[in-house]
Amino acid sequence: MSGIVVVGTQWGDEGKGKITDFLAGKADVIVRFQGGNNAGHTIVFDGKKFALHLIPSGIFRKDAINVMANGMVINPKAMLEELEMLKQGGVTEFNLAISDRAHIILPYHIVLDGMLEELKEDNKKVGTTKKGIGPTYTDKASRIGIRVCDFVDDEVFKEKLTDNLNYYNKIFKLFGKEELNTEAIYQEYLEYAEAMKPYVTDTGVLLNRLLEDDKKVVFEGAQGALLCMDHGTYPFVTSSSPTAASVPVNTGVSPKYINEVIGITKAYSTRVGSGFFATEFDDDVAHQIREVGHEYGTTTGRPRRIGWIDTVVLRHTKRISGLTALSVMLLDVLSGVKTLQVCVAYKLNGEIIDYMPASIKDYEKCIPIYMEIPGWDEDITKVTNFSGLPVNAQLYLNKLAELVGVEVAIFSVGPDRTQTVVLKELI
Ligand code: GDP
Ligand code: IMO
Ligand code: MG
Repeated sequence: MSGIVVVGTQWGDEGKGKITDFLAGKADVIVRFQGGNNAGHTIVFDGKKFALHLIPSGIFRKDAINVMANGMVINPKAMLEELEMLKQGGVTEFNLAISDRAHIILPYHIVLDGMLEELKEDNKKVGTTKKGIGPTYTDKASRIGIRVCDFVDDEVFKEKLTDNLNYYNKIFKLFGKEELNTEAIYQEYLEYAEAMKPYVTDTGVLLNRLLEDDKKVVFEGAQGALLCMDHGTYPFVTSSSPTAASVPVNTGVSPKYINEVIGITKAYSTRVGSGFFATEFDDDVAHQIREVGHEYGTTTGRPRRIGWIDTVVLRHTKRISGLTALSVMLLDVLSGVKTLQVCVAYKLNGEIIDYMPASIKDYEKCIPIYMEIPGWDEDITKVTNFSGLPVNAQLYLNKLAELVGVEVAIFSVGPDRTQTVVLKELI
């Protein structure tokens, strides 16, 4: 009966893939519960580097079951390409279960994603990954989505695809876009459905059985809490809920199975795509962090925007996800930064506040209030325990734990699986 949730505490790309793969070494089951191939999760071990977009990060652990749960949106073509990439990389067995209730991303969702962005003025564009995520979740809410169970039934698939394209082609025509050919898509996707079929099952039933059997389950979040539709920096968010609170609805397991929630945070902040973030800065130090940390998007290659760590954000995430532990990533990237700034509160209209305002207009007016912590110069990439860290790095971690009110259970000093230091066993 043990479930541990891995969630991003910022705007994504915190290192969730690395920690999920690490925890998967001791887990029985790994579950991706939301999002789609907007995610890019990097895993490095034995001199190899993999970027996963849809497949759970437990896929490299031979004995683990990897589940793609009902809350996900799955592009079948991208999924099969990812399996092929894994095969090329030496992963030959896929212990994979795909929910029959997950939704399918189809070509018209991708066209819509691009079209809706094009139609917006520059300052209103979300800067999506253009993978069709928003339009697929929109169809789900509009009750015209095509679920995996529909997709693998060729009759149902054809009927729903025809209905949807009859509708969307009218919109494409209206906006001067090329109409999509139903039959061509049907024929192409029938093959993908066949290839997907062996993995399809009711993953809610499967997960409940495994949890009742006392199996250890890691729920792998994608994106980050600030990209949450409900609690993020709306409207500059994704279209799902990357919080621990969404795990039950997105997987079909009861909240009683969630024992730990580990919040993954960078030792600083990054954001890719549009939207204000209070601690962003862009000077030589930001440039140094971007280059040392290779801060370029795993999915789109876009340069990530850099900011100081923001404990208002981390406390917000702690509240909405019930964090029980923190994993502080990329600590090594801060080596050589003379003075570190830690945001402790915001000033809004002359008042000091300790929360993130809902209104984006107010959030954009927030001025961060910083506490300064002296940096360190030493290379820490080979550190294997807390006392091996320079004193100022120890101070930095202790200060974060104190300001957020959550203990640091893991810190990470490099991309490799082995560059992970556990301070408290969670699994
Ligand atoms: P995710 O989306 O949360 O899984 O994170 P990404 O994989 O998109 O981005 C995290 C990036 O940081 C990847 O390039 C990782 O290989 C890298 N990374 C993770 N942990 C560390 C670390 O402790 N130090 C360094 N230097 N890189 C890390
Ligand atoms: P992982 O799991 C970082 C961002 C996009 C955009 C916004 C909406 O790797 O942390 P979408 O395509 O989801 O409609 O885009 O969300 N975004 C991410 N940023 N990491 C991710 O995933 C992201 N997934 C979406 O850049 O600003
Ligand atoms: Mg990523």
